[in-house]
Amino acid sequence: MLPKPHSVKVAQTIPELDKILDPYRQKQQNVGFVPTMGALHEGHISLIKQAKAENEVVVCSIFVNPTQFNDPADLKRYPRPVEEDKQMLEAAGCDVLFLPTVEVMYPKGDFTTLNEDFGMLDKVMEGASRPGHFAGMITVVNKLLLAVKPINAYFGQKDFQQLAIVKHFIAKHVIPINIIGCPIVREPDGLAMSSRNRLLSPDERKRAVLISQTLFKVKEMWGKSSVADIKDFVQNEFVKDGYMKLDYFEISYSDTLQPFDGKRNAQAVACIAVFDGKVRLIDNILL
Ligand code: PAF
Repeated sequence: MLPKPHSVKVAQTIPELDKILDPYRQKQQNVGFVPTMGALHEGHISLIKQAKAENEVVVCSIFVNPTQFNDPADLKRYPRPVEEDKQMLEAAGCDVLFLPTVEVMYPKGDFTTLNEDFGMLDKVMEGASRPGHFAGMITVVNKLLLAVKPINAYFGQKDFQQLAIVKHFIAKHVIPINIIGCPIVREPDGLAMSSRNRLLSPDERKRAVLISQTLFKVKEMWGKSSVADIKDFVQNEFVKDGYMKLDYFEISYSDTLQPFDGKRNAQAVACIAVFDGKVRLIDNILL
């Protein structure tokens, strides 16, 4: 007889979630949590698998959070293949899928976001390019963490700045949750896995490889060329491409996210955001 596939329990409300998780909580068993916006890919599945290995029960949330989209068109076209996602979660052995509605997360249509001070962390890169994005992101992450009450929460390092901001928030508010950053998962040609990749046309998908290829070259140049020369190189790669539009390329300190000026002997990270047609893709590499 074939083994029964693992079935994922679905909760749409917080009382439903509590009903499933309370028995684990009462036995002091570890709840691991992977917050997502769905359109799952192998990057998300790697987080689920790590959470599975480190916790007694794993919850994944799928919620396309309206308050973190600064562009309404981006929110509208964001992929929502929920049935496919559920099957992937089952195959990965995820125990619980938290699938709240907008009304559950923003009752009575109150879309107020937290007015958090992230210091300089959100003044650069995604924060500068997408006004309000991090306020919306931290608002929903806070609500999700309060609902799930995990001991460990897993975030991908592709959203490098998001991870830094979540860690900052958790530390500042002394929230007893471990925030665990997990490595970027790449397609065989190097493209960082992203839910937005499925929005690319075949031609855009082919071109997108330039993003990771450029970052890999930046890593080779690091220590041999100046920051200014590396920036010129990157700019030029996208001018030569003539189709994709570079939104930003920064070399920053990985802890403060401020521009790398060589005055501190600390880890640097190269971060990039590019428009491939209408689709905005981000990637990064530690140097
Ligand atoms: O990284 C994401 O998918 C989202 O920003 C998150 C953390 C699920 C919050 O909506």
